[in-house]
Amino acid sequence: MREYSIAAIPADGIGPEVIAAGVTALESLARRLGDVKFSVETFDWGSAYYRKHGAMMPADGLATLKKFDAIYFGAVGAPDVPDHITLWGLRLPICQGFDQYANVRPTRILPGITSPLRHAEVGDLDWVIVRENSEGEYAGCGGRVHRGLPEEVGTEVAIFTRVGVQRIMRYAFRLAQSRPRKLLTVVTKSNAQRHGMVMWDEIAEQVSKEFPDVTWDKMLVDAMTVRMTLKPQSLDTIVATNLHADILSDLAGALAGSLGVAPTANIDPERRFPSMFEPIHGSAFDITGKGIANPVASFWTASQMLDHLGEAEASARLMRAVEKVTGAGITTPDVGGTATTKDVTAAVVEAIHSSN
Ligand code: NAI
Ligand code: MG
Repeated sequence: MREYSIAAIPADGIGPEVIAAGVTALESLARRLGDVKFSVETFDWGSAYYRKHGAMMPADGLATLKKFDAIYFGAVGAPDVPDHITLWGLRLPICQGFDQYANVRPTRILPGITSPLRHAEVGDLDWVIVRENSEGEYAGCGGRVHRGLPEEVGTEVAIFTRVGVQRIMRYAFRLAQSRPRKLLTVVTKSNAQRHGMVMWDEIAEQVSKEFPDVTWDKMLVDAMTVRMTLKPQSLDTIVATNLHADILSDLAGALAGSLGVAPTANIDPERRFPSMFEPIHGSAFDITGKGIANPVASFWTASQMLDHLGEAEASARLMRAVEKVTGAGITTPDVGGTATTKDVTAAVVEAIHSSN
């Protein structure tokens, strides 16, 4: 019996709804396969915890998480707590503390889900966006002086290090190499940002020499939005900075039909620390408690988690079940269906058990 310990942090808004759905799917996979077990421990960290304790998680939160095999994360964000507190109080400390420098975001149009792109169908859009997740524009470097005075200054400095850029480029080239098309697009903005981004381009060029079988090109981030929209078939693996990939992956999620289906993995490729798996979407307080949150992103990221843990069969089985269910039109309102979170989850559980 292979056993994995998973720390679940459902946190805010629809986080608890979609993580509960995902845990149900994991339990069902364990029952179906028989030789694998997931012991899930759930932590009540997030905005409610913040209101009680003045912090999003306990001071020794990272030490607690460190012993788990993986972290399964919902979303943070509450109407009455500032976003920079919820984000910097929980999700970012985990990503940075555990050096999860590769943020991996697969996008596909799933069966039964319609892309807002008139000519894009299942198979036309099959991307993986690799986001640099440890530095760049979100390094947290900067400050404010002369607060409130007319001469107040705020700086937000993007940090690019050779080590940081090299490791994300290597990760992206390796991932591109593992995919059938062996195709990588490096996103940049070196025309306007002439220091860090020029170094980014140079390192991409250098790392590319280690991967002669990968075809790669370079795209300015603004032009990239156009290419994603007009020629989605021309892209496969994509690597971009923290900020650029943050924006591009929201676009990718929307083009694939809904943010509610888009997953992400925060990976420490060296496996010194647990990696963290989460839906891309936020806490969606406009639909919290209504029972209609789309659990597909949560299932898909659970499948990424299974892959990372080396459980390729369970991962593939889960995605087959999800695609069977979306293909049968059992979907939530954000993608045009009428099913509830529970309906979709029950259908996925049924598909996990009935497939061979
Ligand atoms: P959001 O992703 O929560 O919601 C955007 C829109 O998509 C909403 O209309 C929502 O109903 C819909 N949506 C999102 N996920 C869905 C799902 N699974 N099923 C159906 N519909 C879904 O982004 P928004 O509204 O900008 O932010 C809300 C809060 O979430 C903010 O506090 C924000 O800071 C936080 N946030 C947290 C993230 C995280 O924890 N990683 C990521 C993005 C936002
Ligand atoms: Mg985002």
